[in-house]
Amino acid sequence: MKVVMIGAGYVGLTTGACLAELGHSVTCVDTDAARIKTLGLGATPIYEPGLEALIRKNRRLGRLDFSPDTKGPAGKADAIFLAVGTPAAPGGDIDLSHIETAARQIAPAMKPNAVVVVKSTVVVGTCRRLREVIAEKRLGLDFSVASNPEFLREGTAIQDFLHPDRIVIGADDRRAATVLEELYAPLAKRRTPILITNTANAELIKYASNAFLALKIGFINDVADLCEQVGGDVEAVARGMGLDSRIGMSFLSPGPGFGGSCFPKDTRAFVATGRKHRARQSLVETLVAKNESRKNSLARRVLAELGERARGARIAVFGLAFKANTDDVRDSAALTIIPLLQQAGLAVRAHDPQAEANAARHLSGVEMHDCMYAAAKGVDAVLVLTEWDDYRTIDLKRLSKTMSGSLVIDYRNMFTPRQMALSGLRYVSLGRSASPKTAGAVVSKASKALQLATAAPNHL
Ligand code: UDX
Repeated sequence: MKVVMIGAGYVGLTTGACLAELGHSVTCVDTDAARIKTLGLGATPIYEPGLEALIRKNRRLGRLDFSPDTKGPAGKADAIFLAVGTPAAPGGDIDLSHIETAARQIAPAMKPNAVVVVKSTVVVGTCRRLREVIAEKRLGLDFSVASNPEFLREGTAIQDFLHPDRIVIGADDRRAATVLEELYAPLAKRRTPILITNTANAELIKYASNAFLALKIGFINDVADLCEQVGGDVEAVARGMGLDSRIGMSFLSPGPGFGGSCFPKDTRAFVATGRKHRARQSLVETLVAKNESRKNSLARRVLAELGERARGARIAVFGLAFKANTDDVRDSAALTIIPLLQQAGLAVRAHDPQAEANAARHLSGVEMHDCMYAAAKGVDAVLVLTEWDDYRTIDLKRLSKTMSGSLVIDYRNMFTPRQMALSGLRYVSLGRSASPKTAGAVVSKASKALQLATAAPNHL
């Protein structure tokens, strides 16, 4: 099938390359001529594991190409995907101007029976709106608009596309459903569930899914705070919860607050949609507020751990991306926490395997290092904000010798108190007692029972 992907960003590029991998003929289009030129030269302007190889392979097979021109490719396409940005607008709503512009651009070129597929995350009712926009430009044209939300996580996007839990097709007519079923037939053969519903439900499924996943994260962060007060271990609690098939293990890792290009934007849009349609989403409203305040409170916790030495202290931040395996820093906790530490008088150094260049555009006065040990040389404390494997496998004894202080604050719970104690480091993490030897000292009788009940043999 001939496919055009309008928008060659994180979603458009990955989706386009994966559709080519399924055997379709795909042209990715972007108004950013520099981005298209870079792609044409075989380079990939974003970091996504496996994407560059997938692009090269499908270009070599003649199934994937790039163009700054929209009309030409759109005029030949059976399916025209809209994967342009839908950034946040004031008040939490989303800005639909880019996607409406894209719809107006393709309208004059579309062939009869073309299916416009909205891949971008859009609020409920947008597909119907886009149908009006196109119909105004092409009176009498027979076409369809469908919703096909993506559930790709940065860092695992290719795996998520090729092995999805489900494919959601929002279609208001049979032709759209048929074209999208054909498009995803290779995945259907692998028994991937394909849900066909109307466009409004598909748009709602996307937002409700992201809001719910974000709620899971916000909840386990709250549980971590409680564990710290009662001497519990959030890792044990999360495991005990997650073994319940109705809850599941994923998205129960405490952290510095969720970031990225989706959860912060989508939760706010979901709240705005609730307000607009008089169905207030108060749980998600609370989540949004708490997630932002968490980043501030965790910055204050760093200062509290440093005490009166905070002003003038040197700290190395490990991790600038909003999560591991991406170079994306959008709404990353580091971009909130680092300026707060600087305002309190700390000298900040930073390391990130992929995101330094992107982070440097948002930070000032931060000494970037491409070696984590160099970043930690002579510092009073290390602060872990992103769960890169580079940090999980760090040589803690070498780190301890490199630092001048001994404080490691780990907001991703990448280490165990025992590991840190053995390395002579003072360890602060989320939802767990400071270290094995102090665990007993701070627990009440009740939580001691909790500790015994949850401690696995290797905890003894
Ligand atoms: C998310 C959704 O998972 C994906 O389905 C959707 O299509 C796009 O938005 P993404 O933003 O790439 O994907 O990353 P994700 O892995 O969901 O993490 C989002 C944020 O939550 C990150 O800041 C991450 O660090 C944080 N997180 C995630 C936690 O703090 N704890 C967890 O257990 C999981």
